[in-house]
Amino acid sequence: VLPELFNTGYAHPDRDAVAALAEENAGPTVEWAKSISRTCGAAVCGGFARREGDRVFNSSFLVDGDALLAVYDKVHLFHRERFLFDAGGGPFPVVPCRGVPVGIMICFDWIFPEVCRSLALDGARVVLHPSNLVMPWCQDAMRVRCLENGVFALTANRIGHEEHLVFTGGSQITGPKGEVLSRAPQVGEHAFVVEIDPGDAADKSVTEFSDRLADRRPDLYGRLCRPRD
Ligand code: ACM
Repeated sequence: VLPELFNTGYAHPDRDAVAALAEENAGPTVEWAKSISRTCGAAVCGGFARREGDRVFNSSFLVDGDALLAVYDKVHLFHRERFLFDAGGGPFPVVPCRGVPVGIMICFDWIFPEVCRSLALDGARVVLHPSNLVMPWCQDAMRVRCLENGVFALTANRIGHEEHLVFTGGSQITGPKGEVLSRAPQVGEHAFVVEIDPGDAADKSVTEFSDRLADRRPDLYGRLCRPRD
């Protein structure tokens, strides 16, 4: 998993600048990721600027060998991103990757618990999370996202700075009990591999008698699906 917008940078001055770097699904970045996937034998996810007609999205791809398994257009645009990108229209994707249902969300989607919950309800066991985080809270929040949904998450964050923005590093693999399986330092390049059993994200029970997903009361949650008054 690579960060959000890993090949274009993040701090674009305006929409034209990012549109000039945007690619179609079959563009050079996705083709490059496929070649890396073929060479190293791993599925590869990462963020790119995506063009479709006149629209430009902050997107992520998931490839495995020659296959483009999923493309997700970021739904919740952060801060000035709204002046650069069109917001994605969903759905939040869950696709099989080597037999494991895998979901994708991008960076600021973390602050909307509905995203990770939607992915979990659609069966995701592992959530891929390309990021360019500039605030310090996401890594700890992902422990809660994972605990409340019983999923693994892979948050790949940037380091260093661009213009006035300082990225918070701390890329993290989080487990379904909210455990930090690995966290990178805030500075410096870092890559790590953690061995997991995706089956650990299948069982949503909390105790013998309590279940995170089965015990939900959607009959009481209708308010969550209406805009704020
Ligand atoms: C972010 O969504 N890049 C903070």
